[in-house]
Amino acid sequence: MSVKEIKAMGALKGEVQIPGDKSISHRAVMLGSIARGTTEISHFLNGADCLSTIHCFQKMGIEIEQSKDLVLVHGRGLRGLKAPRGILDTGNSGTTTRLICGILSGQNFSSVLSGDDSLNSRPMKRIMDPLNQMGARITSIQDNNCAPLRIEPGTLHGIRYVSPVASAQVKSSVLLAGLYADSPVSVTEPVLSRNHTELMLGSFGADISSELHADGSATASVSPCAELYGQKIQVPGDISSAAYFIAAGLLVPGSRLLVKNVGINPTRAGFLEVCRKMGADIGYLNRQSQGGEETADLLVTPKPLTGTVIEGAVIPSLIDEIPILAVMAAFAEGTTVIRDAAELKVKETNRIQTVTENLLAMGAEIIPTEDGMIIHGTGALKGTQIQSHLDHRIAMAFSVAALAAEGTTTILDSQCVDVSYPGFFAQLMDLSGK
Ligand code: S3P
Repeated sequence: MSVKEIKAMGALKGEVQIPGDKSISHRAVMLGSIARGTTEISHFLNGADCLSTIHCFQKMGIEIEQSKDLVLVHGRGLRGLKAPRGILDTGNSGTTTRLICGILSGQNFSSVLSGDDSLNSRPMKRIMDPLNQMGARITSIQDNNCAPLRIEPGTLHGIRYVSPVASAQVKSSVLLAGLYADSPVSVTEPVLSRNHTELMLGSFGADISSELHADGSATASVSPCAELYGQKIQVPGDISSAAYFIAAGLLVPGSRLLVKNVGINPTRAGFLEVCRKMGADIGYLNRQSQGGEETADLLVTPKPLTGTVIEGAVIPSLIDEIPILAVMAAFAEGTTVIRDAAELKVKETNRIQTVTENLLAMGAEIIPTEDGMIIHGTGALKGTQIQSHLDHRIAMAFSVAALAAEGTTTILDSQCVDVSYPGFFAQLMDLSGK
């Protein structure tokens, strides 16, 4: 177990290069593996989660070369995967597990997927239900609707699936299975979740369409596919990782940060919208677009923040940023209410619980609710011992809290940041010049 000790270290100044987007890195390896030809991925996220995806496809016969953040995936076509020898280890990664199940459902071999304790306690019924409705044969080996999962060959048929949750993982899993089905597949979700799969499938040559409905729900449809074709992908900086530096730049007096090349796809950028509602003034520079994914450099200077309400359609676009938003709310003036976010309970940890426990330990006023939390901003936190519970986002959110708190904070199991942000602590230290 590693422990990080963090205390206020003064203004943070300079440029921050954010590692590649986790969601996009996963998808680039997956689609590259089942496409014909080579997919070249630049600015790939070398976090443990995305490495789990690489290892799974290597185990299925895909040659993948990696040099720093450049990855070459030598795809073998839609039907070119080979039966893996042994279990596919998906580590801590919900995205690897759920998306790969869509692909594995369409293969003519059996496979078994399993991850770490956290992963193996996360709900998989949400993908087993639609995939099995399509004709997949996925079973939970311990009969608890969790991994380990066994996937046996099945014949896939098109469905129109209405998902009870706005989940990009569920949507993507079904769309990927749809590539192997005998007729089109559509997924309707109550609110549009991140649309990286739709954008990337389109650029790899799939016949895919998306529709936003008047009531806010959204449908993505894909037709069965003969072949996908390898692409060049430039992965934007991950807004979920950028959020920690943006929050630090807003909270630590005297800071001035230019957070470079951040993906600002509207289905991911709810964090920036809420920052604005809380009174932050973030400058957007150098806007660009690659493969349908927009990016910008974000200029951040501190501002007094005010409490706000975070609810409804914005939730899926900032679900991973709620721990850091809760920290910001504790420093803000007034009350912040977060609701419609019951999904927090089924992330790497139950984040309603882990955020509440740690904010309380730092002296915040926070009340957990069934689908979120209520935080009465007190403008200050005090250093203490933080239990990350091996959840990368909890470790990073509370590292930022520590920078703006009185005294010293220790983050337990701090190595878990490697899941999505190897080098996080070194970059934080660099910015303070210490
Ligand atoms: C992800 C989707 C989100 C998010 C996760 C990554 C993805 O999960 O929390 O970190 O890459 O599709 P859900 O789709 O389950 O909400």
